[in-house]
Amino acid sequence: MRVCVIGTGYVGLVTGVCLSHIGHDVICVDNNEEKVKLMQSGQSPIYEPGLSELMKSSAESARLHFTSDLAKGVDHGEILFIAVGTPPLPTGESDTRYVEAVARGIGANLNGSDYKVIVNKSTVPIGSGDWVRMIVLDGLKERQKASGNDADANFDVVSNPEFLREGSAVYDTFNPDRIVLGSNSEQAIAMMKELYQPLVSRKFAKDKSLDPVPVVVTDLSSAEMIKYAANSFLATKISFINEVANICDRVGADVTQVAKGIGLDSRIGSKFLQAGIGWGGSCFPKDVSALIHTADDYGYSAELMKAAVSVNIRQRSIALEKLQQELKILKGKTIGLLGLTFKPDTDDMRDAPALGLIEELNRLGARVKAYDPIVSQSGLSHGLSGVIIETNAEMLADGCDALVLVTDWKEFEKLDYSKMAKLMTNTVMIDGRNFLDRKALEAIGFRYLGIGH
Ligand SMILES: NC(=O)c1ccc[n+]([C@@H]2O[C@H](COP(=O)([O-])OP(=O)(O)OC[C@H]3O[C@@H](n4cnc5c(N)ncnc54)[C@H](O)[C@@H]3O)[C@@H](O)[C@H]2O)c1
Repeated sequence: MRVCVIGTGYVGLVTGVCLSHIGHDVICVDNNEEKVKLMQSGQSPIYEPGLSELMKSSAESARLHFTSDLAKGVDHGEILFIAVGTPPLPTGESDTRYVEAVARGIGANLNGSDYKVIVNKSTVPIGSGDWVRMIVLDGLKERQKASGNDADANFDVVSNPEFLREGSAVYDTFNPDRIVLGSNSEQAIAMMKELYQPLVSRKFAKDKSLDPVPVVVTDLSSAEMIKYAANSFLATKISFINEVANICDRVGADVTQVAKGIGLDSRIGSKFLQAGIGWGGSCFPKDVSALIHTADDYGYSAELMKAAVSVNIRQRSIALEKLQQELKILKGKTIGLLGLTFKPDTDDMRDAPALGLIEELNRLGARVKAYDPIVSQSGLSHGLSGVIIETNAEMLADGCDALVLVTDWKEFEKLDYSKMAKLMTNTVMIDGRNFLDRKALEAIGFRYLGIGH
């Protein structure tokens, strides 16, 4: 099928590349010329395991193209994905101006002859499906007025929320737990089912013997709500275990054992039960806030979600509390951060817990250094200030009064902690993800503090 994906960030680029890999003819559109040039030269502007390799093979098959020309993309696609960002506004609502610009642009470029399906893949407030339809029609009318070309348009809007996780986005796209399609148009749903058939049948899955991927077909608003409810549930689950961890810390229990003990209950499940320094990233904070805001708009106070957010705000200062507990005065001390990104296997720094920690440590007069496998390697500062980026873990350890493990990158399991300890002024390790081997570190001489552990 002919597909156009507008917005080539973590969602759009992965979607476009994977759809071309399964046999569709894809044009990806982005209004960032620099990004487009990079992608045209075969390079990925983001770090996502497996993406560069897939981009290369899709480009060779000539089924994947990049452009900044929206008209070209709209003309090409029978299915048009909107995958631009919906960042949070200071009020907590989603900023939908990028979706609006794209919807208007699509309307202005519809030529009337072919039926098109416009798909909201961006996470958008409930009710956005109808709103997008209205904006597309506005764009169409503006074009009709300006050009005298009164050709009408034939399209439907579908909500198709995305559930991929950064760090395993390619894997998740080929191995989805479910596909959600919201629309009242049978024609649009039929086209979406055809598009996803190779994924539904698990042709590209790791385990091809599994049952077909469940497809949830529903109305627009329910599809939009599914995305917000899923992220709010996961964020609440993490806040729950963090709250349990804080109680464990006080009563002398071990949250890793508690999580194991409750996670084995099939009604609960073991995922998202790792205590740590709080959730962050580009999705959870903004999606939970947006749902709280939507509820407020309807006069309903979403108490459970508000509590999940406030537990998280408190949790994000827990590493700092533990540093103060151990070192007392932070002024003049050097703190080394192991990891910066909000989770491993991504280069995304949006709303990463490390950012708040760096800011607070600076405010209290500490010197902050960091080593992150991707941030250090890319040489990009990601707009970071108040932190010295080191190029390896030993340089990080040199002269530090404490290390804080912020991100559970796999390579941190295998660092030479004996050598690092010898380079440190004080051997304190705050393990913000309960990730390291406590006994091994204590044997080397580290004073080890986990979270509820
Ligand atoms: N990142 C995730 O893990 C994830 C997961 C599920 C859902 N989502 C949702 O998907 C959406 C996209 O998220 P993302 O992380 O990929 O965003 P992103 O910020 O990484 O990428 C957005 C892209 O859109 C481009 N863009 C902006 N305006 C444009 C325009 N007018 N025309 C063409 N391109 C334009 C930007 O240049 C950028 O490349 C958001 O709504 C997000 O909530 C994200």
